[in-house]
Amino acid sequence: MFLTKEEERIYDGERGWANQTCMKILVRLGELFDAEKLIPIDSAHVSGVSYKTLGDAPIQFLRALADADAKVQVRTTLNPQSMDSRYLAGKLPEHLKEQQLNILEQFEKMGLTKSLTCTPYYLHSPRKGSHNAWAESSAVVYANSILGAWTNREGGPSALSAALIGKTPDYGIHRAKNRTANVTVEVEMDIQNETEYGALGILLGRILGDRIPAIEGLPANSRDMLKQLCAAMATTGMTNMLRLGGTKEGEKISIESKQIKETIEELSTASTRQPDLVFLGCPHCSLNEIERIAQLVEGKNVKNGTEFWVCTSCHIREKAIDQVRMIEKAGGHVLDGVCTIVSWTEKLQIKTIMTNSAKTAYYAPTLNKAETILAQLEDCLKTALQG
Ligand code: F3S
Repeated sequence: MFLTKEEERIYDGERGWANQTCMKILVRLGELFDAEKLIPIDSAHVSGVSYKTLGDAPIQFLRALADADAKVQVRTTLNPQSMDSRYLAGKLPEHLKEQQLNILEQFEKMGLTKSLTCTPYYLHSPRKGSHNAWAESSAVVYANSILGAWTNREGGPSALSAALIGKTPDYGIHRAKNRTANVTVEVEMDIQNETEYGALGILLGRILGDRIPAIEGLPANSRDMLKQLCAAMATTGMTNMLRLGGTKEGEKISIESKQIKETIEELSTASTRQPDLVFLGCPHCSLNEIERIAQLVEGKNVKNGTEFWVCTSCHIREKAIDQVRMIEKAGGHVLDGVCTIVSWTEKLQIKTIMTNSAKTAYYAPTLNKAETILAQLEDCLKTALQG
């Protein structure tokens, strides 16, 4: 791999241990994927923030980088953590809270924005055609497909290394030739809601592997619906991008309503229709989604014995103060900066989760040891509320 003189000096350790380590990670990655050089990036998004999924050993590495004065070179956002300070921190054991704060402290020292969201594009939309280094698969597919920004699917360490160096290896979806659709998907049904978009994504992820689909037959798509499609497709497959319409050459795959229905049924593992938790906000809610939820809960109350959580970023929460108040008045909790999947719901005796997110329904049985009910937003709210 070609390195500039400046990059070589960093590689040789002239800019200290932290920069040298990050440069070595990027060069190793580039060599693995036959990249010829490093390219500058506009932004990075780092995953691996929740103490539940990170564990203890990586904290030592983060602390070593922070103590060595490593600083991000580009705007860098963080994925959600395991708890919020308003609600869950008060319910979970103190030592978990301490370690979670410890992780955040290291990231903050390195200059990462305490965004704590899997929808960083609501905070700042990346420039069309810009190169970025994002971890968080749902955001990667959304950025490439809907926003026209260019990013490979990074892991936590490679995204952090790219942030600290300000560059990423030039391979994969950073090359224009790798952004062309190579299979056509015809959706032979009238897709109606976010849950069906999610089920389509789960199905396509399994079928496509890492191929890029040109999807035909979707109705006029709202970005909130497409967000569910992107998140779910990244859950079961390695595809980093989809195209809406386009290519008709090559292989064609048809998706029928029966397959979508069966996928939703498969992702609903619970035998009961009465969940312990009704959860909306995977990926984190947009302002539109919060407004819609607030309208639907107005004048109603969350049922006794049921938890109702809406997850979003602190940025969207601040923009939606009135709507947050309406949801909380009804007895719901708007949790900012949290991902339910990487929180300790099992420690809160939550055994059944109802959600409109196919991604959550896919992961909850293993990561949260919970049974699932996958249903569209209106049905989730009908179950959570009375009155
Ligand atoms: Fe976001 Fe967690 Fe879902 S990171 S996409 S809320 S699984």
